Amino acid sequence: MTITTAVEACSSLPVLSGSAAYEAAVARLREASRTYFGAGYSLMDDATYDRLLVAVKEWEAAHPDSVAETSPTGRVADGAAPAGDVAHTARLLSLDNVFTPGELDSWGASFRRRLGHEPTGGFTVEPKMDGAAVAARYRDGRLVQIITRGDGTQGEDVSHVIGTIEGLPEYLPAPLTFEARGEVLFTQEQFEAANEVRTAHGAAVFANPRNGAAGTLRAKDRPYRLAMTFWAYGAVALDGGAFPPAGAGHAETLAAVERAGVRTTAATPAGLHVVDTLEQARERVDAIAALRAALPFGIDGVVIKADSADEQAAVGVGSRFPYWAIAYKLPAVERQTLLLDVVWEVGRTGVLAPTAILAPVELDGSTVTRATLHNPADILRRDLHIGDTVTVHKAGDIIPRVEAAVVELRPEGAVPVPLPSHCPHCGDEIDRGQERWRCAKGTACALAPLIEYAAGRDVLDIDGLGRKYVDVLVAGGEVRDVADLFTLTEEQLTAASGSAKRGAKLAEQIRLAAARPLSRVFCALGIPGTGRSMSRRIAGHFGTMEAIRGADAAALQEVEGIGPEKAPVIVEQVAALAPVIDKLIAAGVGMTEPRPETAQERADGPLTGTTVVVTGKMTGPLDGWGRSEMGALIERAGGRVGGSVNSRTTYLVAAPSASGKPSSKAVKAAELGVEVLAPEAFAALVADLLD
Ligand code: IVH
Repeated sequence: MTITTAVEACSSLPVLSGSAAYEAAVARLREASRTYFGAGYSLMDDATYDRLLVAVKEWEAAHPDSVAETSPTGRVADGAAPAGDVAHTARLLSLDNVFTPGELDSWGASFRRRLGHEPTGGFTVEPKMDGAAVAARYRDGRLVQIITRGDGTQGEDVSHVIGTIEGLPEYLPAPLTFEARGEVLFTQEQFEAANEVRTAHGAAVFANPRNGAAGTLRAKDRPYRLAMTFWAYGAVALDGGAFPPAGAGHAETLAAVERAGVRTTAATPAGLHVVDTLEQARERVDAIAALRAALPFGIDGVVIKADSADEQAAVGVGSRFPYWAIAYKLPAVERQTLLLDVVWEVGRTGVLAPTAILAPVELDGSTVTRATLHNPADILRRDLHIGDTVTVHKAGDIIPRVEAAVVELRPEGAVPVPLPSHCPHCGDEIDRGQERWRCAKGTACALAPLIEYAAGRDVLDIDGLGRKYVDVLVAGGEVRDVADLFTLTEEQLTAASGSAKRGAKLAEQIRLAAARPLSRVFCALGIPGTGRSMSRRIAGHFGTMEAIRGADAAALQEVEGIGPEKAPVIVEQVAALAPVIDKLIAAGVGMTEPRPETAQERADGPLTGTTVVVTGKMTGPLDGWGRSEMGALIERAGGRVGGSVNSRTTYLVAAPSASGKPSSKAVKAAELGVEVLAPEAFAALVADLLD
């Protein structure tokens, strides 16, 4: 792929200027489907494919007599999926798409028209799982066959994956005969595990979970097995059996499937909701869209279905999709673009952080030009080359990440991403002892970012002291460590900031910063692994800097979340920072941790006497709350923040796992009988403090 094709992929809806452009678009779509279904990689990302398909449909609507025989528009899987030789019990259909509220209204109007009256049976709303469709046949309670969707009439037998799919058990508790229909995919966790197994076997990493699932279903002779997950979104009777019950609506059918022991879309955190009107359905679409980034698997939309079996039968199905269901597509969270370069930045602790520079691509409402690339081992594992077409993932507020290279599209002569031989910031040696490389000078290398961090929000909070003035102070040699901030004169600050007014304000801010609690001052030292909430725990535990300095590794391990690996590193760093700490003391900076509330207030808090551990993304009223905000909330409520689940833990706050696979903390909590609270339940407990 050339740069122009990748950039073209980012632009808005293409307009087909004439029949030649139409035919070229049809050919491109067919080629994309052919490589996707045949060779297992994507020539273009979904968003680009969808836009081209819409343009083709519009052209065909205006020129109904000139529709190409090869057009993908009228076929299941766009006519490109390998059909296989197993006949489906009933056709396995696809879904029509809408992208806007207006289009959903139009769909609603056509649904009403086909029905001949106002719908009364309600609508179901559930996530559209981004995987591969299969039909799973159970006979007498045993999973006997799994078939891909194929062309909707015939599919491929992929029964070799029986036993590897969570949610699709080999045996059911009751001897039921029926066919579950749903989506097989890798959860994010399974995807990462699968790529590790692939790397260990010398196989290329999967470009994304969906391609991985499709490829894994097809691959019958791999020397390894990869775990995937299934969610049913429908079921049909098999061999004339009576399950699912005839006449059952969609929600009732899925509930019966769930009771039978097969996982359904209702069991995801997005759930299956029944609403009365399409207006309410759209509200659920928004709610699921908001949840999307926190889901442990990929969704590419939300599916709305008429719930009532009678209304479904009354409107019927078309050649490709049912008239009683519609997919509301969500903005792309994964796109393909070009990896133009990799730059290395040195973080506040001296860690070398690689960042991918990308050809601009529109992702979930913003233009992405940079993405994180974790560490050198990760780059090597993904075998990334400069010039590669890469898949990039971004949802909600999460930092964009490069998922993988599309190896098939690698330009000739592309070179692997070069790894630095020396620290890109100061030119010193690199310490390659850990997965994350760091400058041998450690924090001393990255002085400016460290000072910026120390002056930042929730640390010393020196309002107005941003990177610009920090750079001047560091370059001028006035600040050689964080303690130097406290001996800066108003004149020096005036010179650095270029104004007497700003100089005076900064001097006042620094005076205020000297009175911050120990937790903030300790955090400002920039010791690896002691961010805001860990610093609060350490300062809360020891109370004074003197006590911290006197602590050995064993004493430090009494702090929640500090284990045998971290403790000696902190002891060593505190000792190494002795001159800086002495300077801070001499400058009169706060060295004690005041109790945030009086004993009376703490004794009255809703969490008084409890230790609370928080894990994963928060949802409901706490949606978007980070670790440090949650820590502060728990402490305000009189509780203690725990780092790991142990016998002292009172509550674990965790959103339920969508994959059904609990996190390691949730497993530990279950073992120890620790109560697990969903974020919503926890929010209710501390409701008084949330206003
Ligand atoms: S209903 C007869 N529900 O999306 C109705 N499909 O783009 C058929 N999909 O072929 C499908 N999640 O493979 C339905 N909750 C869901 C779904 C879902 C994912 C897939 C399915 C379908 C494709 C259409």
